Amino acid sequence: MNIKTRSWAEPYKMKMVELLKMTTKPQRIKAIKEAGFNTFLLKSEDVYIDLLTDSGTNSMSDRQWGALMIGDEAYAGSKSYYKMESAIQKNYGYKYIIPTHQGRAAENILSKILIKKGDIVPGNMYFTTTRLHQELAGGTFEDIIIDEAHDPSNEHPFKGNVDLAKLEKLVKKYGAKKIAYISLATNVNLAGGQPISMANLKELRAYTKKHQIRIIHDMTRVAENAYFIQQREKDYEKKSIREIVFEICSLTDGATMSAKKDALVNIGGFMATNEWDVFEEARNLVVVYEGLHTYGGLAGRDMEAIALGIAESLDDNHQHARVGQVEYLGKKMQDYGIPIVKPIGGHGIFVDARAMLPHLTQDEFPAQTLAAEIFIDSGVRTMERGIVSAGRKSNGKNYYPPLELVRFTIPRRVYTQAHMDVIAESAAAVYQRRKTIKGLKMIYEPKYLRFFQAKFEKLK
Ligand code: F0G
Repeated sequence: MNIKTRSWAEPYKMKMVELLKMTTKPQRIKAIKEAGFNTFLLKSEDVYIDLLTDSGTNSMSDRQWGALMIGDEAYAGSKSYYKMESAIQKNYGYKYIIPTHQGRAAENILSKILIKKGDIVPGNMYFTTTRLHQELAGGTFEDIIIDEAHDPSNEHPFKGNVDLAKLEKLVKKYGAKKIAYISLATNVNLAGGQPISMANLKELRAYTKKHQIRIIHDMTRVAENAYFIQQREKDYEKKSIREIVFEICSLTDGATMSAKKDALVNIGGFMATNEWDVFEEARNLVVVYEGLHTYGGLAGRDMEAIALGIAESLDDNHQHARVGQVEYLGKKMQDYGIPIVKPIGGHGIFVDARAMLPHLTQDEFPAQTLAAEIFIDSGVRTMERGIVSAGRKSNGKNYYPPLELVRFTIPRRVYTQAHMDVIAESAAAVYQRRKTIKGLKMIYEPKYLRFFQAKFEKLK
């Protein structure tokens, strides 16, 4: 036998499993109706394969579980804090660290410090919590991602790139002093888990240096971005994920991080900065919102797990298996003809709900509808990333985002390849009966981040 390409497999094995409940279709119909057709409001007990998010849903390693036992739960100056601080300094290179209970807490503190009322915050596509904190601090988010990112079928290898002409326009219009900072995400979540290239980041750094504008890095999925740079960018194929991550961070001035993603833990986050003044203010503010600056809302054991998780996330074999599994699912879905965002991203498959349900208007919530239908079909829980997630502008009008997507988010080190087959088959079954699917009407809408708690009913 002539074996040309060899399979990859996960660089770990299972030591413990969590049993899942299998449900019937009538049970799932009842459950989704009770949840107001919002997958966030389902009970996880009723879910078979949970692809709601890759946030806090990762499997920790035996080493991380072991480390929980040596967490130092001192209120002040915990040993575990110093381990987390040194893991961040060593692997990411940022100087000063503020732990927080998760990413949005870091966004809250950082936005309060760096944004003044009337400021502009340009970024490579919005993220829900990030933009909300920028707005609550008095800023206005402006999207400066390249146009290709808004087109689900465009195969640009770095759809997370910044369009410098768009940034230049904002600088000309408002003046550099009005720009609070560039809100720069690696592996842009809402674009479909799409990376920014090192070349683009270097250009952005040169431009912002000239105009004295900070770059604040949302580094929630930085290691996945580094994987794509290694695979796709000239001169980086021989560099390790660890080296690439370090280089990305070195081109920015500070960061917010949800450790619940890349860093392989169930809870945690931090803010980082290279500026003493910013740190000093953050160290003070964290006491108001989170806890003392040496724990910031985390238990000592959480900080132990983060310190190890950061190191594990930078392993080349880990990232290969991580993104490889997502690619496996994406290719299967493509084989069934399901329209997905291309290229396949880092943390999940994003199904193009507009393309799948062209008979629904955006006000009939195609992505929300599709997420509910997939749950009914198989108990697979996905998430809407479209008009519901985008929310309303400060003038009360709906945002109408060009992307209307259902996210099949893959937790790290949790599901098997056989699970991926079941997921793809379920999406295919819904795809086959797509023309018969009716939309939804919103019957309850909370004021903030409505996608978490909104309720819907089926249109007749
Ligand atoms: N930034 C990005 C890019 C994120 O994806 C998230 C969370 C946050 C910040 C906020 O972090 O949840 O720890 O407060 N994303 C989750 C998701 C919720 O499902 O995509 P957090």
